[in-house]
Amino acid sequence: SVLAGRARDLAGRHVVVSAGGTREAIDPVRFIGNRSSGLQGYALARTAVARGAEVTVVSANVALPDPAGAKVVRVESARELRDAVLAAAAHADAVVMAAAVADFRPARESDTKIKKSAGEPEPIRLVRNPDVLAELGETRRAAAGPAEGPAPYPRVIVGFAAETDDVLANGRAKLERKGCDLLVVNQVGRGLAFGRPDNAAVVLIAGGGDVEIPRGPKEDLADVVWDLVAERLT
Ligand code: CTP
Ligand code: CA
Repeated sequence: SVLAGRARDLAGRHVVVSAGGTREAIDPVRFIGNRSSGLQGYALARTAVARGAEVTVVSANVALPDPAGAKVVRVESARELRDAVLAAAAHADAVVMAAAVADFRPARESDTKIKKSAGEPEPIRLVRNPDVLAELGETRRAAAGPAEGPAPYPRVIVGFAAETDDVLANGRAKLERKGCDLLVVNQVGRGLAFGRPDNAAVVLIAGGGDVEIPRGPKEDLADVVWDLVAERLT
């Protein structure tokens, strides 16, 4: 397999990967969702298993086979994802937030299917969802300091971001706002179709510096992320 022959440099480590995209219910049959497939998150999970880690995948609406050797926790909404990620993160060395998490959800979920018979539709009012990545960073900041035994928060926190312009500046500001150690940034939109060489990712490193990742298989990007994570766990 393409995963064979990797160093088992994550042996004894527990890592959490969120994958896919959340769904926010409007009524029993409808939701607000996004186009995230979960491919990058699952590649991160498979690669971490191959490198020896104990892996928990918090999987939001992913239509892919389970990554072999990983524990998969299925969630639907941002709030479910938050609860599952924070529960797993309390015992984890690293958390990678590859999932596309909805920023907003309908203020109210209708118990019954909304019918079109009532004439013009009511607008759907939205409210903010919790920011899971920012919450992980805050939990770690609040808990920092000498403690007995293993830390109850992840030592390494990784975010993902897609930006349309000022990729490096926006990414750097987001990294600092969220309090994570690494932010994997993709340039999207404005004619930069996926699949073009100028659509490569950059990993921004807290405190300065970045690593450019040339366009290639999602496993290659995953390996660069785990290289940077492993460095920070030694
Ligand atoms: N994220 C999260 N919780 C949210 C939204 C995002 O944990 N409610 C995480 C994503 O999983 C990703 C990172 O934050 O790892 C960046 O997501 P992004 O949508 O780029 O950042 P936002 O802060 O939501 O900013 P924007 O206004 O650009 O959407
Ligand atoms: Ca967002």
